[in-house]
Amino acid sequence: MKVLVAYASRHGATAGIAKRIAERMKASGVDAVAEEVTGLRDVSAYDAYVVGSAAYMFRWLKEATRFVKRNARTLEERPLWLFSSGPTGTDLVDEKGRDIFEAMRPKEFETFRNLAPIDTKVFFGAWKGNEEPKGAAERFLNLMPESWKEDIPVGDFRDWDAIDAWADEIAAYLTGPTA
Ligand SMILES: Cc1cc2nc3c(=O)[nH]c(=O)nc-3n(C[C@H](O)[C@H](O)[C@H](O)COP(=O)(O)O)c2cc1C
Repeated sequence: MKVLVAYASRHGATAGIAKRIAERMKASGVDAVAEEVTGLRDVSAYDAYVVGSAAYMFRWLKEATRFVKRNARTLEERPLWLFSSGPTGTDLVDEKGRDIFEAMRPKEFETFRNLAPIDTKVFFGAWKGNEEPKGAAERFLNLMPESWKEDIPVGDFRDWDAIDAWADEIAAYLTGPTA
């Protein structure tokens, strides 16, 4: 059972989550490997896929979206899980009182519903706040008043327990009696 954990990351937070998922699955006896989407071409040799991206302005990074579209026929035929690394901070509800993980679901979870992922998951992310802007969303933020930046809490909020628990669920699905 070979599993590909494919990810897109601007500043490393999502890469860390993807690597952790692969490591955790390996500990459960699943042959999982984490790879950045941009380096991947033919991915048909894997039995199952976990695909994740950082979310900026409610969207996945383009390279992650392109990866899924390019490999849609393979991904839809085999077990697939999607995750997003996004909200920073520790608040479990947003300013409107909505569940933060529901409110921050990236648009792509809807777009890729036709691929019938077994689960879609949003994790808390990380943001250093002082990094060189790497994409349009960050350049836009830099042009805005300081108060806008305060809406994106600075720190590493990745919830390793939640990430491990999700990786364990995936491993259990792939190695369980119905696999
Ligand atoms: C300009 C900007 C916009 C962001 N927009 C979102 C968003 O729409 N949804 C979300 O969940 N997180 C958003 N974030 C938080 C990032 O997704 C989070 O920091 C993520 O973990 C970064 O991952 P990376 O280091 O792999 O790029 C935003 C961060 C910045 C700086």
